Amino acid sequence: MTSESSWLTDTDPTPGPPPGCPAHGLGPGGLHRLYGPDAADLGDLYERLREQYGPVAPVLLHDDVPMWVVLGHAENQHLVRSPSVYTRDSRIWSPLSDGTVKPDHPLMPHIAWQPICSHAEGDEHQRLRVAVTAAMSTMDHRTLRRHIGRHTQGLVNRFCERGRADLVSQFADHLPMAVMCEILGMPEEYNDRMVQAARDALKGTETAIQSHTYVMDALSRLTTRRRARPEEDFTSHLVTHAAGLTDDEVREHLRLVLFAAYEATANLLANALRMVLTEPGFRARLSGGQMTVPEAIEQSLWDEPPFSTVLGYYAKQDTELGGQRIRKGDGLLFAPAPGNLDPRIRPDLSASMQGNRSHLAFGGGPHECPGQDIGRAIADVGVDALLMRLSDIQLDCPEDDLRWRSSIASRHLVSLPVRFEPKPQQDVNVPPRPTAVPPQRSGWQTTTALPDETPATDPHPTTPTPAPHPTTPEPPRRRSLWQRLLHWWHGE
Ligand code: HEM
Repeated sequence: MTSESSWLTDTDPTPGPPPGCPAHGLGPGGLHRLYGPDAADLGDLYERLREQYGPVAPVLLHDDVPMWVVLGHAENQHLVRSPSVYTRDSRIWSPLSDGTVKPDHPLMPHIAWQPICSHAEGDEHQRLRVAVTAAMSTMDHRTLRRHIGRHTQGLVNRFCERGRADLVSQFADHLPMAVMCEILGMPEEYNDRMVQAARDALKGTETAIQSHTYVMDALSRLTTRRRARPEEDFTSHLVTHAAGLTDDEVREHLRLVLFAAYEATANLLANALRMVLTEPGFRARLSGGQMTVPEAIEQSLWDEPPFSTVLGYYAKQDTELGGQRIRKGDGLLFAPAPGNLDPRIRPDLSASMQGNRSHLAFGGGPHECPGQDIGRAIADVGVDALLMRLSDIQLDCPEDDLRWRSSIASRHLVSLPVRFEPKPQQDVNVPPRPTAVPPQRSGWQTTTALPDETPATDPHPTTPTPAPHPTTPEPPRRRSLWQRLLHWWHGE
């Protein structure tokens, strides 16, 4: 432990300047800010912090509020799996309880305690989480995959004839919202306005409050409707669960689920598509059949977890983590992005992590993401179906032109322009089929996202259903139908 590293926990009777005081020195050799110019490249900053402090490092949040960032894989796992030592209830965080953090702090939306399962602990956490997981468990995975496939088909139909698209604004930002609106029980609320409102609310622009209100109004209407007359959907199961959630609790959990699912899954889709389009190793392994789309998604969860960090966990007692003395009331950032790159578990970052799911992308312990199967299914089926339809897809700009919008919590690709030979529309209710392309342009080894089966009747078609294209050839039969069905069923 270096001398700088003990400032947050020092119990010396003649302590130095308080945390955040400029006397500590900022920049090289001193404390680092996770905001402003210091944080232009957070990935690089985390590596420098790892070198300087080891697996747990002191940093400053906005307004120079002190925090620990957990960089080690094992230390992150220990953090989330030790509920007797760390809590997600921010009310015990010293800078909040002593007034250092003001109500207008820019990170307050992440920090402020709310009556939702992410911030609760013990029996209260159990009560809320059991209702959420029970509502999720009623979901039929076949139906879920069919919704995802249908919405993917509908989205691709919107741009397939043009030969060009931006896969962030026209695909990755839409698919999770379309699927989540189905899951929650409000498919009629999915439209461009809803996607834009959610994106705007998360970006925190001047119109964020208005956009947030737009989403919340839809969730309030849904709660009222299902309280009056439950149906067969996530919201109805939440409303009727024996845990007895109030209308406010139902609304807040719908908001938690919708925003967490939307942001994380949109990032995952964009990251995974960026990887398959730009990384030659990925493309080669996918096209050579050594890697399936679900394996590519898993690799993306290792390399670019959709939430870079989660704010935060708070120490309930004095303790030690990664060689640092943590004091009761200290705050810690759970950090999947640097944790997944810990050289102690990944000495060679270019080595494939195929078959290894021990990344930190979904957290762990009592708060581990309960929606991970849904997030994975949206990404697996969505990417697979898209590549199946647009098998000659190419990046339509130099890779260096790609830009990200970064915050402490996540890194969002701004756009992902692609080009391909224009393709005909397809029926949204049947599995995607590849369209003939010149042989040298095609090269994806996709895994057929949906089983061949009688199409479901769709009460809310995403686009008009065109007749199947007469010249569309049958997909190549690489596996038997039974093998493909099993493969799909197991989500592989
Ligand atoms: C790729 C997609 C997703 C990723 C990477 C992701 C990641 C995470 C992470 C890191 C956490 C915090 C874990 C912790 O505090 O230790 C979390 C919590 C949560 N996620 Fe996800 N998530 C994803 C998709 C979803 C989906 C689709 C849903 C709902 C359908 C969902 C619902 C939740 C909920 C309700 C929590 C709070 C759980 C609790 O505190 O007990 N997530 N997620």
